[in-house]
Amino acid sequence: MMSDNKTSTFPSDFLWGAASAAYQVEGGHDADGKGPSIWDVFSHQPGTTHEGTNGDIAADHYHRFKEDVALMAEAGLQSYRFSISWPRLLPEGRGTANAAGIQFYSDLIDELLKYGIKPMITLYHWDLPQALQDIGGWESRETVDAFEQYARLCYEKFGDRVELWSTFNETLIFIGMGYFTGAHPPGLRNPKRGIQACHHVFIAHAKAVKAFRDYQAENRIPAGGQIGFVNVMQPHDPITDSPADIAACKMADDLLTHWLYDPVLKGEYPAHILNMAQLTWGVPEFAPEDEDLLKENICDFIGVNYYKREWIAANPDVDNTQINTTGEKGSGKEFGFKGLFKFVRNPESTYTDWDWEIYPEGLCVGMMRLKDRYGDIPFYITENGLGAKDPIVDGEIVDDPRIDYLSGHIDAAASAIEQGINVRGYYPWSFIDLLSWLNGYQKQYGFVYIDRDNDLARKRKKSFYWYQGVISSNGAIR
Ligand code: BG6
Repeated sequence: MMSDNKTSTFPSDFLWGAASAAYQVEGGHDADGKGPSIWDVFSHQPGTTHEGTNGDIAADHYHRFKEDVALMAEAGLQSYRFSISWPRLLPEGRGTANAAGIQFYSDLIDELLKYGIKPMITLYHWDLPQALQDIGGWESRETVDAFEQYARLCYEKFGDRVELWSTFNETLIFIGMGYFTGAHPPGLRNPKRGIQACHHVFIAHAKAVKAFRDYQAENRIPAGGQIGFVNVMQPHDPITDSPADIAACKMADDLLTHWLYDPVLKGEYPAHILNMAQLTWGVPEFAPEDEDLLKENICDFIGVNYYKREWIAANPDVDNTQINTTGEKGSGKEFGFKGLFKFVRNPESTYTDWDWEIYPEGLCVGMMRLKDRYGDIPFYITENGLGAKDPIVDGEIVDDPRIDYLSGHIDAAASAIEQGINVRGYYPWSFIDLLSWLNGYQKQYGFVYIDRDNDLARKRKKSFYWYQGVISSNGAIR
C-alpha cells in the first residue's frame, strides 16, 4: 500500500487538511455564556453513551486552540475543517448573540490564517441548541428560521476571512440515529417525524445557501467563496448477484444516498421514494415556497465523509423490484423502511475493531457513482479515518494501521483524480484525538494523542510525521 513514487497526481492547489467537530473537540461546555446543546443534555442521561462519556471537557480545544493550531502548522496542514457550536454563538438558538462565543471563533480563524491554514467551517455538526429542541427541534419551521439567522450571523462575523463553508454534516446520521434508531438525540423511533425533520433540514440548507449568495453579491465573502453540503458516502453493493439482492441494493441506494443527495444537488427528491413516503406516512409536507427554494439553491460542492462500504441483502418478505419503479407498492409502514433491505457482513472483507469494512477503493467508486448521477461536481473528502485503540510502545504511539488505512485511501483519491473526478481536498478525521459520539475516548482517530491522565497533554503519533511527509510532497510520498 505504501507508495513513494515521486510525481504527484494531486493538483498544486489541492488542500491537505484535517477535520473536527465542536462538540467532540472543544469542551468548555458551559464556558463564557454558552448555552446547552442537545448533546450536552443527551450525553448526561444515563445509558446513552459508552460509560457515560460526554463532551464537557473533550480535548479542551476551547482553551488550548493556540497550542493545537501550532501543531497543525507544524504538520503542514493547509486547511482545517471545524464546526461552529450554534449554542456557543446563540445560547437560545436565536435572539441575542454571545460576544465571547463570537470572539472564540474569530480568534481561532485569525490563528489559522496566521499560519496560512484555510478555515473550512461546518455550520451544523449536530449540536442543536437545546432551547430549539424544546420548541420541536428540526420538526419545527421555527428552527429553520433560527438556522437562517444563525447562518447570517456567521457570514456577518467570519465571512470576511473564510472562503469554504458547508451547512450540514451527515443527515444520514443525525436524522437516521435521531429519529429512526433513537441512538442519538432526540432519541426517537418515528420515521414520519424523521422524514419531516429531514425535509426541514434541506429547507434550512437552501435558505442558508440563499443568504450566502446575498453576502457574495455584496462582496462580503472572499472571492472564490463556496458553500457545500457534507454527506456520508457509503457505497452499497449487493452481497450476491441475485435479482432480489440487486433490487434491495438499489433500494438502499435510493433511501440512504439519493434521498439525501438529490435535494441539495438536484433540488428535488427521487420521485418514487417521495411517492412511497407520502403514501405511507403522509410526509414530507411541503410549504408553498419549498419546491422553489430547493431548486434555486444548489450548492457549490459536496463534502463526502467516507469510512466504509455496506453490503446489502434482500429481506425475503419484500419485493423491492415492485417498489423500485413507482413507489406505489411501497410497504414503508410495514417494514419501517429499514426492513426493505438488510446490512450484511462479507466474510471475505477486512473489518475494523468496530466492524467497519476497510475498503479504500470505495472512496473512488463512491465518487464515480455520484459523478454518474450528478455530473461533474467538485468534491472535498471532508472525513476519512481509522477509529482504533492505538498501542503505546515505550511511550510512543505507533499507529501503523492508521497510516496503512489513510495511505490506501489517498491512493484511491489519486486514482479518482486520474479518472477525471474533481477532488479538491482531503480532510482526514481527525487532527487530534477527540470524543467519538457514542464510543467515548477509546476510539481514537487523531494524528495527535491526548493523554487524559496527564492534563490532556498533546503528543504526536507516528502518523503525525507520516502525514507531514504526505503534505510536503503533495501526496507523492504516502
Ligand atoms: C462521522 C461524523 O459520522 O463519523 C464524525 O461526522 C464522527 O463526527 C465520525 O466522529 C466517526 O464516527 P465515530 O462513531 O467512530 O466517532
